Amino acid sequence: MSAINIDHLSFGYTTDTLAIDDLTLTINEGEYTVLIGPNGSGKSTLAKLFIGLLEPRNGTIAVFDQQLRYDTVDAIRSKIGIVFQNPDNQFIGSTVEDDIAFGLENREIDPSQMQSIIMDYASRVGMIDYLKTEPTRLSGGQKQRVAIAGVMAMQPKIMVFDEATSMLDPKGRYEITTLMHDLKSNTDMTIISITHDMEEIAAADRCIVLKDGHLFYDGKPQPLLDDPSKMAAASLQIPFAMRMRELLHQQGIDTLSHTMEGMVDELCRLHSVM
Ligand SMILES: Nc1ncnc2c1ncn2[C@@H]1O[C@H](COP(=O)(O)OP(=O)(O)OP(=O)(O)O)[C@@H](O)[C@H]1O
Ligand SMILES: [Mg+2]
Repeated sequence: MSAINIDHLSFGYTTDTLAIDDLTLTINEGEYTVLIGPNGSGKSTLAKLFIGLLEPRNGTIAVFDQQLRYDTVDAIRSKIGIVFQNPDNQFIGSTVEDDIAFGLENREIDPSQMQSIIMDYASRVGMIDYLKTEPTRLSGGQKQRVAIAGVMAMQPKIMVFDEATSMLDPKGRYEITTLMHDLKSNTDMTIISITHDMEEIAAADRCIVLKDGHLFYDGKPQPLLDDPSKMAAASLQIPFAMRMRELLHQQGIDTLSHTMEGMVDELCRLHSVM
């Protein structure tokens, strides 16, 4: 089943420009999709269009086959949880606990279960010791953790993360992306993650690249990561291991592995038979 279906979608902030330019694509239920592309390519704009924060100029958006319109926007928003690029815009509650609770109240969760859900998700993102803290007193990375917990706790059918781990340290980023993958594997949740993190991109089911509001690439991540000219055209930095593989290829050495460890093993074996 399609989770989100967009058809010939266009949107512009001004009359003479288009931030999203005639985009047609379908996101399938249960997929982990990374949405990538250079700064200003339209990723956040597309995320805002999904939940009806912006109104299309042309084309349509359907969420689980329901067309996004004025009279369906509330029903559609109850199915999509979004963590915005700037976590400061996300807080409503006066404490971390109130903030997570606010979202749950909107979803009409049984009040007797509320506390255990809040504790569960706050601990999953490593913020259990901050439940009574004012969100304004948190660091950028801590705010991102709380925003992620608040949205995950609502258990929406679709989750959109707009660079939601950009301020986390490498260990924190690994923990949170593992949590996202676990959520996807254990539920039928659909995940759309806007990211510049190469490891997250490589591990995704599907990769959609936007460029100047157009669809530039749609497919598995590996063929994109293996194509230096496409990577450069999409302003993406080629991972170190990929660059090394390309340089070896130019020297007439073709390796099978895509990781540095695998390539080193292959080169050692090659050296020992020479
Ligand atoms: N509120 C706004 N008013 C006017 N123009 C905007 C606004 N927000 C974004 N834009 C323009 O729309 C285009 C797409 O912006 P968008 O924020 O969707 O890009 P993005 O791909 O999310 O970039 P980034 O990687 O920097 O987050 C850009 O050219 C940007 O200048
Ligand atoms: Mg953005």
